[in-house]
Amino acid sequence: MSAIIAPSILSANFGKLYEEIEMINNSEAGWFHVDVMDGVFVPNISFGFPLMKPLKEKAVKTLDVHLMIVDPDRYIKTFAEAGAHVLTVHYEACTHLHRTLSEIKNQGMKAGVALNPHTPVSLLRDVLPLCDLVCLMSVNPGFGGQKFIENTYNKIIELKAMILELGLNTLIEIDGGVALNNALLLTKAGADVLVAGNTVFGSENPTKTIAELVELTK
Ligand code: DX5
Ligand code: ZN
Repeated sequence: MSAIIAPSILSANFGKLYEEIEMINNSEAGWFHVDVMDGVFVPNISFGFPLMKPLKEKAVKTLDVHLMIVDPDRYIKTFAEAGAHVLTVHYEACTHLHRTLSEIKNQGMKAGVALNPHTPVSLLRDVLPLCDLVCLMSVNPGFGGQKFIENTYNKIIELKAMILELGLNTLIEIDGGVALNNALLLTKAGADVLVAGNTVFGSENPTKTIAELVELTK
């Protein structure tokens, strides 16, 4: 089975947003990855609810929302209403992660936790049964187009072993620096979902690049 490819809207051309959404709808991409940044948790501000509206209206695939914000509990319900299917919060931004994940699920969404490159996967053990998805950041979050951090492979392998040991179905998502030259290796290591921003939207033919990523990970 191939990996789920999740193009990151952050790298799309917002001047032709509907076309970009249609392109993903008609491509072999599995999900839309939606990066919300607050300028506090990460050194960049991206977008918020105004962008969820056109996505909810036009996108026909899973909306995978990655919150790079402090105190995400404040917005769980609003993101559910805005159409998020998967809501991922950062381990580093949650004081009461167990409560946060439970609330995401109570609101009818899949719950995800993202780990910054410096955060060990072992810290997730006690909440892993509540995680539908773990997003391993393979760059320091905040910007698209950064260089992939190689230690991510070790983290995938360790996380995959923990998921199997606990008998869970948690998906492993890789976010940052995913490219045509590492997609297969990441999948072989145990990744299920590959986020791709610059690789897709920086290419001549994004639809073709998505198809290539799918094909490569088979
Ligand atoms: C980074 C974001 C990523 C980003 C990935 O902070 O979470 O989702 O859009 O972009 P690329 O694929 O260009 O590294
Ligand atoms: Zn992301």
